[in-house]
Amino acid sequence: MKATKAKVFPSPLTAFPIIFPSLCKILLGFLGCRSKYFKEMDLSGKMVRQVEIKSDGDAFHQIFRYKPHHISTVSPGKIQSVDLHEGDWGSVGSVIFWNYTHDGKEKTAKGIIEAIDEEKKLVRFKTVEGDLMQLYKTFIATVHVDTKLGGNNLVTWTFEYEKLSGNVVDPNSLMDFCIKLTKDIEAHHLK
Ligand SMILES: *[C@@H]1O[C@H](CO)[C@@H](O)[C@H](O)[C@H]1NC(C)=O
Repeated sequence: MKATKAKVFPSPLTAFPIIFPSLCKILLGFLGCRSKYFKEMDLSGKMVRQVEIKSDGDAFHQIFRYKPHHISTVSPGKIQSVDLHEGDWGSVGSVIFWNYTHDGKEKTAKGIIEAIDEEKKLVRFKTVEGDLMQLYKTFIATVHVDTKLGGNNLVTWTFEYEKLSGNVVDPNSLMDFCIKLTKDIEAHHLK
């Protein structure tokens, strides 16, 4: 004869292994939602990196301010051309168009020189068109040089950006690109 199982309400002890995993699942689901929510909210970022150069800090700034078109000669693998589209080289409001190769792809960036500070040896470039605009709502790159007593100069790159979505990664690889570019310019000037 088949034994029939009596339907009893599970005691707290026997119910625990059933209820506990479900509670965990609910809790993790909730936390997952929360972190996704925060990721989606936090789309703006700032990235700062510094690199010391042995070459002259003023010369470095002059290149970025007045002669960015010379960078394609200094670092042709990274920068293919830099063209002036509006205004004058070295002036606020001028519009500059960059052809560059990043992560093995040919890219472009059109941007406006938003700020120049001769004392801080600073140039701020706000992107208005190009590949970065596929990923970022805003992307501003600033480069400035601190000249130190004793010769060495500290170049600081700052990116301020707002991503278009939470899936966009931080611009680490573009920052690497700028640091390498800085080293190329340094090497060229030390020759
Ligand atoms: C720069 O990019 C534009 C647009 O993609 C292209 O037409 C032009 O040939 C490029 N110039 C160089 C020097 O790579």
